[in-house]
Amino acid sequence: MTVPQRRRLLPLFTKDVRHANRSSMTCRFRCGNACDHPVPNESDNEYFGDIVNEAVASRRGVLRAGAVGAIAIGAGVAGVAGATPAMAAEGAEGFEPLLAQGASYGKHDGVLAFRAIPPNTLDKVIVPNGYDSAVVIEWGDKVTADAPEFDIDDQSAWAQRRQFGYNNDFVGVLPYGRDRDRAILVANHEYTNEILMFRSYLGGDAAPLEQIEIAMAAHGLSVVALRRIDETGQWRADSRNRRGNRRIHVGTKFEFTGPAVGSALLKTAADSRGRNPYGTLNNCAGGVTPWGTVLSGEENFNQYFTGGDGVPAADKPALARYGIDTTKHHAADNRRFDRVEARFDLTKHPHEANRFGWIVEVDPYDPHSTPKKHTALGRFKHEGANAILADDGRAVVYMGDDERFDYMYKFVSDRRFKPGDSRKARENNLRLLESGTLYVAKLEYTSAGEIDGSGRLPSDGQFNGTGRWIPIVRGSESLVPGMTVDQVLVHTRLAGDAVGATKMDRPEDVQPNPATGKIYAALTNNTDRGKPGKPGADEANPRNLNKHGQIFEITEDNGNQASETFTWDVPIVCGDPADPATFFAGFDKTKVSPISCPDNVAFDASGKNLWISTDGNALGTNDGLFAVPLTGPERGFVRQFLSVPFGAETCGPFVHDDNKTVFVAVQHPGEVTGATLDNPASTWPNGDYAKPGVVCSWRLDGRDVGR
Ligand code: FEO
Ligand code: CA
Ligand code: CA
Repeated sequence: MTVPQRRRLLPLFTKDVRHANRSSMTCRFRCGNACDHPVPNESDNEYFGDIVNEAVASRRGVLRAGAVGAIAIGAGVAGVAGATPAMAAEGAEGFEPLLAQGASYGKHDGVLAFRAIPPNTLDKVIVPNGYDSAVVIEWGDKVTADAPEFDIDDQSAWAQRRQFGYNNDFVGVLPYGRDRDRAILVANHEYTNEILMFRSYLGGDAAPLEQIEIAMAAHGLSVVALRRIDETGQWRADSRNRRGNRRIHVGTKFEFTGPAVGSALLKTAADSRGRNPYGTLNNCAGGVTPWGTVLSGEENFNQYFTGGDGVPAADKPALARYGIDTTKHHAADNRRFDRVEARFDLTKHPHEANRFGWIVEVDPYDPHSTPKKHTALGRFKHEGANAILADDGRAVVYMGDDERFDYMYKFVSDRRFKPGDSRKARENNLRLLESGTLYVAKLEYTSAGEIDGSGRLPSDGQFNGTGRWIPIVRGSESLVPGMTVDQVLVHTRLAGDAVGATKMDRPEDVQPNPATGKIYAALTNNTDRGKPGKPGADEANPRNLNKHGQIFEITEDNGNQASETFTWDVPIVCGDPADPATFFAGFDKTKVSPISCPDNVAFDASGKNLWISTDGNALGTNDGLFAVPLTGPERGFVRQFLSVPFGAETCGPFVHDDNKTVFVAVQHPGEVTGATLDNPASTWPNGDYAKPGVVCSWRLDGRDVGR
């Protein structure tokens, strides 16, 4: 007799689509219902443009003359970091090159031969035939050596400060000495969903303070040693070695660097020198640097503050430009961090919000290091940051401001990268992001008159054009008329408005390909494009009411990563390939996978393929990870590699530098309106309730991923 397996009956959760396929629950917890608020960029931003552009043009010739040769990526990247005390204890004396930064090209042919998985709504991780997947670490798992076991019914802030945080987003995997069977995982914990974390959550005003403190502690980052399983591509958090592990959270001390250090705009009652903010919030994407650190973007930080109505009137416009409500004390669904720490009430501490919205740099090799917030990289809703070295050794960092009609940025360091793992080299490299030039992108078009908002391809067969990186700060000098350097860096969005930057469809990950130096930006979507009173389509953002997003490719002029001019095109306009308003670089659309809402991107160790994760698939199926060749006859051949469980978003993606493993973060599984901890829409990964976690996938036969 067959015994029917007892199965938890899940209620039918309807897709309450608000924008893309995002549930209103995600909108509330992740970005504080950003879409309910007016688009913060109301600027008519052409005014100062011409003045600044003239200045740019006169400098361009000088720079061009100084730029010689092709990009020598990977040159000098070997030996990125010195051993830490924790690693020295393990016998690790140095570090293998960060192969994913360029040293392994040529070792991997980059052939993509896997059979695409079908779009689906299953409550599990789906990978292609011939692959397996497993959880690396999940919410609540021990991070530090003194962490207690996770108990959903006995959570505490003390425990959460030692356990893996909630809603992992960015995933970076760094070498662990020369031991190829170990690695260091750095993951971001972007936001919390208290309804899915606690058996009863009454909301911010009524929540017990301990619940608020747990949520605060569940934000931030984790640094976790990994161990390879049985010489396969599978990795797991190392339960035998937690000495170098670290949790960074809202109570962690940070240090500001750069030109805005000590600015009045950064000073608070608790920090009269404007030097040491505490904590990091809403860390979304990020990047591993060629010098062995991790960058992390503070994104929708605005939602954590209350009291915007009580700030001095002069401060309100800038706060509003960052999406902070200045009309009332707080929204009914605010998390009320201010009930635990008064600094989150802007009426009492009007500058505290200025201490968030930065790029954070963490040295994962030194668990005792003070993480940095780099003011030279500007303040906005940072999706992430990805660094590459210019041919002269300067660090170049690309960044996106994830908001409808906001901008893409680039930073070029003054200091040059020093190779090697000497103390001197390391000290130098850890200061690369303290000073440099910050730019914002302005685009020009080749077929402007032919763009009608339908997504129809212009007659030259390409959405393409040229662009300029407009400098807004050089060293400690503001290049924006009427703004001081600290104003430009703290209110960078206003500086972008002033110089006439191009309004994009939500720039998320902006990432240079270490093999080619070309830059790929995921423009997620923008359902406000072309609405009455809003900017209409342009050649780079070619669809009105853009639900599905596009991939944007930048080629710096003269092969010089530090160039102030570039060309660009849009190789992929996402959506259902049957929809005429999609484009896959001219590849046969009957063969490609549907893809919607690209969010984060990665490159594999061949440098030939782009891996794209999605957030909010507006085609009604689960989010996923896709791979697409960037050159050759298969450019544009998008194939779905993986899908995440029901209600989840695919974050992270990171391909190990040996090309044997793909890592993704499964963020907010089961985050569907109406779901609770006890009435879950997803029971991934353990069959009881939904828990975010990091997953790895590998080929069963041990060959390169993608084959
Ligand atoms: Fe946290 Fe822009 O996604
Ligand atoms: Ca064109
Ligand atoms: Ca994102």
